[in-house]
Amino acid sequence: MKARIAVLGGDGIGPEVIAEGLRCLEAIGSSFGHEFALTHLPFGGAAIDACGDPLPESTLHACLTADAVLLGAIGGPKWSAPDAKVRPEQGLLRLRKELGVYANLRPVKLHSCLIGASTIKPEVLEGVDLVFVRELTGGIYFGEKKRDALSAVDVCTYTVTEVERITRVAARLAQQRRRKLTSIDKSNVLETSRLWREVATRVRSAEFPDVALDHMLVDAAAMHLIRRPRDFDVLVTENMFGDILTDEASMLAGSLGLLPSASLGDGKRGLYEPIHGSAPDIAGRGIANPVGTIMSIAMLLRHSLELTREAETLEVAVSRALEGGARTPDIAMSGERALTTREMGDAVLGALSRVG
Ligand code: IPM
Ligand code: MG
Repeated sequence: MKARIAVLGGDGIGPEVIAEGLRCLEAIGSSFGHEFALTHLPFGGAAIDACGDPLPESTLHACLTADAVLLGAIGGPKWSAPDAKVRPEQGLLRLRKELGVYANLRPVKLHSCLIGASTIKPEVLEGVDLVFVRELTGGIYFGEKKRDALSAVDVCTYTVTEVERITRVAARLAQQRRRKLTSIDKSNVLETSRLWREVATRVRSAEFPDVALDHMLVDAAAMHLIRRPRDFDVLVTENMFGDILTDEASMLAGSLGLLPSASLGDGKRGLYEPIHGSAPDIAGRGIANPVGTIMSIAMLLRHSLELTREAETLEVAVSRALEGGARTPDIAMSGERALTTREMGDAVLGALSRVG
């Protein structure tokens, strides 16, 4: 097949991890006979420097006409002054909104060979396999903002339609898994959460009677996630709770650098990005973990291009590379030799040539 992919390297370690991801994508393309036409575009802080806009119109247009968008990471201290007029993050939020990708899937699965890389006890982690479905284009991220000398306001709004559609995505996913859905809110305090709980309950009972739904307050969820993570299957939650809880959940897998994400809307086009940020502290040193990006490419193959076999092949190659001992510094234990970003890419490519 032929597919057009818009590639936004972004800032910090973004371009470094994207480079390794693209080598893997190319290898998949040549072994399965697909042609991936890549367009590299300026985005984030790099685009602010180049033209004053984190999401230039030409970049947005290329994303809207591509089959999928692959993104590294954005942001950094250079663009983070408290009084900054434009920020890289505004470009990312606008891109998510313009693409209509309201459902952000963040799978957290433990590679058993990395069980020692986590700060959490192995017996708690064994068998962890869950997916967050984070609402991505609503809530406090997108509400009205106001600021004067003595106060600041961020408005949080959710509509029935927004909650219905994200509940459906999560419940459908649960049907393909262990049929267990946990909806996370703060309904003891927030009106938006009371709406969320009501709508999620109604959609589940009307449309997904085969899925078990339970509700959990976000503070309790933060605790249960590290107390008994194995009990979770699919978790659905609003934008900001999902942002916070998925960083926490990444520790179940061992490192933020391992986790991929897919942001999907009603069509097939999606936005794929590792969940980590631009990591300015290690940018340029060639030591970032490219696994989150490589696994995001597997999600791209599966969700936007319907190339299931190719996605599985890439995922198996990543597992084999890790089982073979490939470790970037974020997942290396003391005494283990750590690989560079490029060497980790090589390890996955080597495993790919044996699997594929
Ligand atoms: C994420 C990031 C972004 C978010 C930032 C960079 C705006 O933390 O994708 O999790 O908060 O959504
Ligand atoms: Mg985040």
